[in-house]
Formats: sequence, structure tokens, C-alpha cells
Amino acid sequence: MKLFTFALVLAAAIASVLGQLIELGYPTNGAVLQAGQNFTVQVIQPGSIASVTQIGIALAVDNCNNGVCPQPTDQLGDVLYAGQWTPTGHGQGGFYQNFTVQISEYMTKGPAIFTLTHFCLLGAGPAPFTEFRNATVTIK
Ligand SMILES: *[C@@H]1O[C@H](CO)[C@@H](O)[C@H](O)[C@H]1NC(C)=O
Ligand SMILES: *[C@@H]1O[C@H](CO)[C@@H](O)[C@H](O)[C@H]1NC(C)=O
Ligand SMILES: *[C@@H]1O[C@H](CO)[C@@H](O)[C@H](O)[C@H]1NC(C)=O
Repeated sequence: MKLFTFALVLAAAIASVLGQLIELGYPTNGAVLQAGQNFTVQVIQPGSIASVTQIGIALAVDNCNNGVCPQPTDQLGDVLYAGQWTPTGHGQGGFYQNFTVQISEYMTKGPAIFTLTHFCLLGAGPAPFTEFRNATVTIK
């Protein structure tokens, strides 16, 4: 148990040294997402991937109530994608991967939080690492 905690602290330290490991290009805060229609999620790899072994990502959206959004560690809501992440170079656009996803037409309309969860292994250990990026959106 102690060793596991140490591994997590180490992973967080490595992540802070490496800087941002992932970024959510779209949706951004304030985006309006149409339920029942395809939209593009842009997942960006900002920097070097040295000593990172990618596992995958999850894309999810969850309703917020009275301005309170669920914490991603508690619940992610509707999972729109869960699987591999294989960013590729797009010239000046940098490294990213676009995913086409769709929010269920039955999802409650209104304020929601879109969460990108990133799973990877860090460093020579390696140590397991999970991080979140989010955007506050509106489901229409
Ligand atoms: C929505 O995305 C799915 C999966 O990529 C695709 O098969 C379908 O044709 C798309 N629908 C529209 C209306 O673009
Ligand atoms: C990926 O999605 C972003 C955001 O919607 C868009 O600006 C970009 O052109 C897309 N790239 C490709 C290759 O479709
Ligand atoms: C969304 O991300 C921001 C920045 O990392 C964080 O401060 C906030 O707690 C997150 N919101 C939720 C509901 O997880």
C-alpha cells in the first residue's frame, strides 16, 4: 500500500516535470453540444512523450445540478468513448487525434461537464498515472 502511494506521488512528480501530458482542444468551456448529433472531440498531445507509455483515454459527459458538477473521480456520466489514443502529427497543427462522438438524444438538456480522462504509465518504474481535463458545456 505504501509502495503504491509512493508510486502515485512519483508519477505526479514526473508529470509536473514533463509538463502537460494531454490537452482538450475541443470542446472548450462554453461550448454548446447538440444531443443526438455528431461532434468532434480534439485531444491534443502538447509536448514530448518521452517516458510515457500510453494506455488510453475516456471521453464522458455528465449533467450538472444547481451549478454543481460531479467530480470525475466519483462519476463520469455518459461515456462517449473509451479506448486507445494514438495522436498523429498535423504539421503546424501539432500532435492530436480527433474523435467523432455523439451525446444521446435522451440526455437531460442544460449545463453539463465534459471530461477527458487520460490513462498512462510514467517513467522507468513505470508508475500508473491518471489525469483529467474538463470543459463546462451546455447540452441542447
Ligand atoms: C456520425 O458518426 C458515425 C461514427 O463516426 C458515422 O458512422 C455517422 O455516419 C455519422 N453521422 C453523421 C450524420 O454524420
Ligand atoms: C480536428 O478537430 C479540430 C477541432 O474541431 C479542427 O479544428 C481540426 O481541423 C480537426 N482536424 C482534422 C484533421 O479533422
Ligand atoms: C475541471 O478542471 C479544473 C481545472 O483542472 C478543476 O479545477 C475543476 O475542479 C474540474 N471540475 C470538475 C467538476 O472536476
